[in-house]
Amino acid sequence: MDRVIIFDTTLRDGEQAAGGTLNVQEKLEIARQLEKLGVDVIEAGFPISSPSDFEAVRLIAKEVRTPIICALARAHPDDIDRAWEAVKEAEHPRLHVFLSASDIHLVYQLKKSREQVLQTSRDMVVRAKKYVDDVEFSPMDASRTEPEYIYQILEAVIDAGATTVNIPDTVGYAIPDEFGRLIEGIFQNVPNIKQAIVSVHCHNDLGLAVANSLESLKRGARQVECTVNGIGERAGNASLEEIVMAVKTRSDFFNLTTYIDTKQIYKTSRLVSELTGFPVQPNKAIVGANAFRHESGIHQDGVIKMPITYEIIAPRTVGIPSSSLVLGKLSGRHAFKERLAELGYSLSDEDFNRAFLAFKELAGKKKGITDRDIESLIAQELRTVSEVYHLDRVQVSCGDRGIPTASVILIAPDGQVVADAALGTGPVDAIYKAINRLVGVPNVLLTEFSVKSVTEGIDAIGEVLVRIESDGITYTGRGADTDIIVASAKAYMNALNRLLAVRKVAE
Ligand code: KIV
Ligand code: ZN
Repeated sequence: MDRVIIFDTTLRDGEQAAGGTLNVQEKLEIARQLEKLGVDVIEAGFPISSPSDFEAVRLIAKEVRTPIICALARAHPDDIDRAWEAVKEAEHPRLHVFLSASDIHLVYQLKKSREQVLQTSRDMVVRAKKYVDDVEFSPMDASRTEPEYIYQILEAVIDAGATTVNIPDTVGYAIPDEFGRLIEGIFQNVPNIKQAIVSVHCHNDLGLAVANSLESLKRGARQVECTVNGIGERAGNASLEEIVMAVKTRSDFFNLTTYIDTKQIYKTSRLVSELTGFPVQPNKAIVGANAFRHESGIHQDGVIKMPITYEIIAPRTVGIPSSSLVLGKLSGRHAFKERLAELGYSLSDEDFNRAFLAFKELAGKKKGITDRDIESLIAQELRTVSEVYHLDRVQVSCGDRGIPTASVILIAPDGQVVADAALGTGPVDAIYKAINRLVGVPNVLLTEFSVKSVTEGIDAIGEVLVRIESDGITYTGRGADTDIIVASAKAYMNALNRLLAVRKVAE
């Protein structure tokens, strides 16, 4: 069977999703998990776009050694130089150069002729090639470009040394049969096409990103660009887990394979959802909460008798934990450690001790501790950004009589204890007003606030996600607690601490 190269762009195109900002450490954590998942290429970022993107690519290039680490660059000398600077320490570095190709982009955006674009594409591949052998080129908006012009560009960039040519459906406009014919046309009309891998990069504006990617594989493409949970610009990118599981489940049809360790899919999906703050819809294929739940009696009966009756994929194939063992306040360190290992966590002694203390505290408040509780606890305990201000205490009085009032105590960066109280339209408003006065960051806009319970039950942990905006940048904050008012305060502090940390670095 031929192998498909899985090019993951969660950290680049995925992170371009509105509101989806990740900090450098979070990107590194995702990259490490992508390595475990077995992706062939990680597109780690777009180094010229911001200092933090540069830093994330540099760190991932240094730390994540098995996959190819790719950095994106516009077809511009400064972009290419900066991308190389970021990725040069990788064990397997790749530069990915892109330039618009469609007349729509050339006329209205670039104001350049086809000849100029052709020349620049070739020249910039030559420039990238001076740094590294592994160079990918993308003619952006290829699906709305006259095929003959795409053939010309591809021939020129392969001639200049491109080893992968990527065909983007940038605006998610293509229809599978039509896109497949474009790929077929490329194989038939680009004389030197055998010297490069043909890749596709599909967006989901019409909900066809996965279908277009699979059609391209049928017609000879051997690299797909995709993201975990399908996150990305607008309606997102092709979903990695759907492509991989379609190829695996229907290997009889595609006669293709990948190097993905499918047992890591669920964990990767949870991690990306947790860190980006983008929930996975319940009916999402492969990783949605309902993807393996059978509700109707007839289906349940069939699955009990023989799973294959209504289940085309065994849940354990994608790493959904098979046991639903519940821990409690009598569970000891050993049981907790074993459960963590089964969930795929291996913690240092120090981190384990912190997590165990948090587990014991939670077990004192909540009866049964499930896998989801443990995931939430790990996220809360081990992934908190280094705090500028620490939330020490929060107290509210609210109800249908009187004015909601909050008092908040914080520990300031210099160690001083600072306190304030505020009135609000509700308890959360009152808390956030008090925190704002204490921290003193002007013009912070709360753009999103959501609460969800981690498990069923009245004593469940509540997870709060907030997004705040300041100077056009979005910061995500998360907080979890059995008391959702406390979780709300933690989430807001988490977002503010991220903002303050970024400002500190900028200063
Ligand atoms: O959608 C797109 O065209 C892209 C390119 C940079 C490949 O993301
Ligand atoms: Zn894209």
